[in-house]
Amino acid sequence: MGIVVGWCWYKKEMKSRKENKVGVPKGNLGWPLVGETIDFIACGYTSKPVSFMEKRRSLYGKVFKTHLLGTPIIVSTDADVNKVVLQNHGNTFIPAYPKSIRELLGEHSILQINGNLQKRLHALIGGFLRSPQFKSRITTDVENSVNLSLCSWKKHKHLIYVQRETQKITFEVLVKVLMSVCPGEDLNSLKREFEEFIKGLICLPINFPGTRLYKSLKAKERLLKIVGRIVKERKLATLENKQEDGARAPKDVVDVLLQHSGDSNEAQGLSVDFITGNVIEMMIPGEETVPMAMTLAVKYLSDCPVALQKLREENMELKKQKIESCGNYSWIDYMSLSFTQNVISETLRMANIINGVWRKALKDVEIKGVLIPKEWCVLTSFTSIHMDEENYSNPYEFDPWRWNCKAGIAANNSISFTPFGGGQRLCPGLDLSRLELSIFLHRLVTTYRWVSEKDEIVHFPTVKMKRKLPIRVTSISSL
Ligand code: HEM
Repeated sequence: MGIVVGWCWYKKEMKSRKENKVGVPKGNLGWPLVGETIDFIACGYTSKPVSFMEKRRSLYGKVFKTHLLGTPIIVSTDADVNKVVLQNHGNTFIPAYPKSIRELLGEHSILQINGNLQKRLHALIGGFLRSPQFKSRITTDVENSVNLSLCSWKKHKHLIYVQRETQKITFEVLVKVLMSVCPGEDLNSLKREFEEFIKGLICLPINFPGTRLYKSLKAKERLLKIVGRIVKERKLATLENKQEDGARAPKDVVDVLLQHSGDSNEAQGLSVDFITGNVIEMMIPGEETVPMAMTLAVKYLSDCPVALQKLREENMELKKQKIESCGNYSWIDYMSLSFTQNVISETLRMANIINGVWRKALKDVEIKGVLIPKEWCVLTSFTSIHMDEENYSNPYEFDPWRWNCKAGIAANNSISFTPFGGGQRLCPGLDLSRLELSIFLHRLVTTYRWVSEKDEIVHFPTVKMKRKLPIRVTSISSL
């Protein structure tokens, strides 16, 4: 027994000496099995979740090691290190999600795959979402969804729950962008099954009847049936159209992927199953992020009347111009509202809806004198960068004016502003998200005044409002 314990100690000591020599970051791996997870989760439940990182950063430096959710992990709060990890030259870093997420994502999900197929898929989707044709069409679609929802608020005598309302708006837009499903039976079933599916993303990875993971996997099977039917129908229609009048411009992501489809055996082609799975998985990053950004914008503006006043003035001016010229709004009209864009950037900086990304190193990598050994996970903390005094003065203050001198940086992402990630996996929904937020804020501040009830932001496991942000609205025209 003594020999075994001695041997284990010797091995551990040698490993730790080797790691220290080549520069594995300092840090504490905490307790056996749980590591430092309890402190990590406890900080997540406070109003300052980044305190977990700040405490260790002051002890060990900007990059440190710890042990979270069953994994030894290197946490980076250094913008340069994050940039290298995100750029991922040589495909060294692969996404590393917790087990429950991996179980729910398909093997070929864009969120999990690496290398050429991910790059190809990313380029196809990003190219479509950035295209002028798409932007002009989706502007009208988003306006319609926002108007429909906001008009219904007039009839509400009671409280409006912003988080719930914005979820309805953005889900409708998302399924339109992905597969052109309009309000109706399919939309309702998709919403119901998707909600059941994502409940399992953060849960114990135990799969047998009755468990959360099991129920979510069943919901995914039902989703695969609905989306699979839509993709098959569209494939047939695409083939017929091709024969009649050649290929037409794609109207949604299913179209884009179908134009690159083939048999499952074909090396370059994307099969119907592949497209179906990926369309469902693309709903994950798009579904909760935009409504949360909308909700938090309303929250921050409620707490900052000066910014709300300035936002309203800018948007009222545009509304007046449009009424006088009887013109439609374009994507550029919304993007040209400079203060509105500042409000959106500031919201994204403070909200940290995606607080960082997890990767795993496929080989030893040295960045800025720090070694990330093969097989280790690395967490690039975006929150730490966004809430760092070195990058933003008074980081806990909602100050949209701070972006006046950083306008281009905000729109394009910089190493100290990465709400949409960066490098190879920079969010392809970036422009669409900014458009949805701009339209929502424009219609909201030019139609209503509101008073919000007391509510709190919860940061764990994902960012949410404790009470879904209840507000009482008064129509501006009736004031
Ligand atoms: C405020 C809203 C949003 C935020 C903050 C956000 C944030 C992010 C971040 C940080 C990543 C990088 C993940 C990584 O590196 O592993 C990402 C990836 C992604 N996002 Fe978004 N996102 C938003 C909206 C959307 C929307 C509306 C869509 C869909 C239309 C979307 C689709 C995607 C996809 C498909 C990826 C994966 C890209 C890849 O791995 O190649 N996102 N998003």
